[in-house]
Amino acid sequence: MGGRKSLLATLAWLMAAGTLMMVVRAEDPYIFFTWNVTYGTISPLGVPQQGILINGQFPGPNINSTTNNNVVINVFNNLDEPLLFSWNGVQQRKNSWQDGVAATNCPIMPGTNYTYHFQVKDQIGSYYYFPSLGMQKAAGGFGGLRINSRLLIPVPFADPEDDYTVLIGDWYTKSQTSMKKLLDSGHSLGRPAGVLINGKSGKDEKEPLFTMKAGKTYRYRICNVGLKNSLNFRIQGHTMKLVEIEGSHTVQNTYQWLDVHLGQCYSVLVTANQEPKDYYMVASTRFTKYDLSATGIIRYENGKGQASQALPEAPVGWAWSLNQFRTFRWNLTASAARPNPQGSYHYGSINITRTIKIVNSAGTVGGKLRYAINGATHVDSTTPLKLAEYYGVQDKVFKYNTIADEPPAQVKSDNITEQPVVVNATFRNFVEIIFENHERSIQSWHLDGYSFFPVAIEPGTWSPEKRKNYNLLDAVSRYTIQVYPKSWAAIMLTFDNAGMWNLRSETWERRYLGQQLYISVQSPARSLRDEYNLPDSAPLCGIVKELPNPPPYTV
Ligand SMILES: *[C@@H]1O[C@H](CO)[C@@H](O)[C@H](O)[C@H]1NC(C)=O
Ligand SMILES: *[C@@H]1O[C@H](CO)[C@@H](O)[C@H](O)[C@H]1NC(C)=O
Ligand SMILES: *[C@@H]1O[C@H](CO)[C@@H](O)[C@H](O)[C@H]1NC(C)=O
Ligand SMILES: *[C@@H]1O[C@H](CO)[C@@H](O)[C@H](O)[C@H]1NC(C)=O
Ligand SMILES: *[C@@H]1O[C@H](CO)[C@@H](O)[C@H](O)[C@H]1NC(C)=O
Ligand SMILES: *[C@@H]1O[C@H](CO)[C@@H](O)[C@H](O)[C@H]1NC(C)=O
Ligand SMILES: *[C@@H]1O[C@H](CO)[C@@H](O)[C@H](O)[C@H]1NC(C)=O
Repeated sequence: MGGRKSLLATLAWLMAAGTLMMVVRAEDPYIFFTWNVTYGTISPLGVPQQGILINGQFPGPNINSTTNNNVVINVFNNLDEPLLFSWNGVQQRKNSWQDGVAATNCPIMPGTNYTYHFQVKDQIGSYYYFPSLGMQKAAGGFGGLRINSRLLIPVPFADPEDDYTVLIGDWYTKSQTSMKKLLDSGHSLGRPAGVLINGKSGKDEKEPLFTMKAGKTYRYRICNVGLKNSLNFRIQGHTMKLVEIEGSHTVQNTYQWLDVHLGQCYSVLVTANQEPKDYYMVASTRFTKYDLSATGIIRYENGKGQASQALPEAPVGWAWSLNQFRTFRWNLTASAARPNPQGSYHYGSINITRTIKIVNSAGTVGGKLRYAINGATHVDSTTPLKLAEYYGVQDKVFKYNTIADEPPAQVKSDNITEQPVVVNATFRNFVEIIFENHERSIQSWHLDGYSFFPVAIEPGTWSPEKRKNYNLLDAVSRYTIQVYPKSWAAIMLTFDNAGMWNLRSETWERRYLGQQLYISVQSPARSLRDEYNLPDSAPLCGIVKELPNPPPYTV
């Protein structure tokens, strides 16, 4: 934190001296954290269960950073199982070494520590972190991560009075280990037991989660950190002005409800312009036969009176949700840091060099439930895929391109192949990815290492003529996209970030049972301009443990 203070002092001095242009030369500030990760008993639904705590907290502490900060987090694993943290939406430019998923890092073993060091390069907005291995996310270990704009970069709205993180998600009272056993033995998880807002269900709760001063405007960052369900979010008596989605400033429409699908984050402004008393915020399950919800109290300072027990209802059906998606637009005139300024304004005029179609399905391998992409279900290898590539021993660990860009017309549910699934992408190619969902359930997909442009979501199946209806102008650059039942979604992006990147179902049992893959993006140059070297402090495992270090990337 001292780094930031001294930067501010330097800034003030430079402004006084009138030599502002030199600021960009200053070293980017560092922010430091130490995390003690332990088990602890939590009872968010009134049933005591084992939670994963960070410094004693559930959910974990917020990370409050500013564009280009170097974030240094020394993680002590005091669990009795391996651990990795991933940083949902943080792009880790040139640096999949810090992405914290099974294919990029050897786990932090029990009783050891590892220091994540990454830069939140050219990003702004709302993110979260989570433990990425197994079903650990079902026990906690997640928390908010925000990236503020730098002081001198104008933000397209007035500074809010305060900035609140709202982590919503469905919740199971089963332990993460018993969930794994269920899934490993071929069963499904079934329905969750409830919904939480910042670790609480709100039942019998008298204390507020948030307070507001009458007349002031607040920013709420709402992320769905749950395992299975899309959630609808709303605030009694108040509207929400949308200002940011997953790292992009949006056109500022006003909403009464927001559908927040698995893995997604939205920022809204809420003005305390109602009678000063308590109000409920509500998060409730969408597209389900069951109806689960959580509430949280927002209290007006010096307000009088309890919140009304009449909770606002959620909209019904998914057509409403699709229409809401179509109202989300990027604010093209708002300035903000963005990782790929050239590409990002003109994505609509770049020629597509490759179309990858992703079709999700459920099936069995050896009689046990698995979930697949294009007929293949992913399994993690003991040697992380990225390390295998770096050491040049990938042939011993996995094969590239075992799935086709155009999936088989029909995937038989008992004809699913099981292996590490790695798609090989050409560095800097501009690609189109189509997610086609033939199932009756809603899907949500996330890609690490990138933001992408979701140019369309439509019912039915995709065909090349559908491209004429794409939004090629102001789609919101983001990192997660939902796909409605029997529908498709199209996204576009440039593979300009070298590394090994996880494309995953955000439905956690689907991901655990194989509905994920990795995209390998290698720069032919083996240059530090394109990718960093494996950090010296990174633990080694699997077959690379005994190997001599490969020649490092050079300038
Ligand atoms: C971590 O937390 C545990 C449990 O509270 C405690 O026993 C241990 O000393 C802590 N470790 C550090 C490094 O703070
Ligand atoms: C987060 O960081 C910003 C910028 O440094 C600061 O203004 C703000 O007070 C911080 N918020 C919290 C909750 O620490
Ligand atoms: C483990 O923590 C110590 C400080 O307690 C630090 O010096 C060391 O670098 C850390 N190790 C790793 C691999 O991050
Ligand atoms: C977009 O951002 C600009 C620049 O900050 C702002 O003036 C404008 O009101 C925003 N437009 C919309 C539609 O939100
Ligand atoms: C894109 O493709 C069209 C048609 O094949 C071609 O005329 C055009 O030059 C290409 N544009 C770029 C930027 O490569
Ligand atoms: C099983 O899937 C593979 C690859 O997708 C395909 O080549 C093969 O024909 C399928 N077999 C059957 C019996 O459907
Ligand atoms: C993967 O792509 C890179 C870059 O296009 C290429 O050099 C390499 O041969 C490809 N590898 C495989 C196994 O397809």
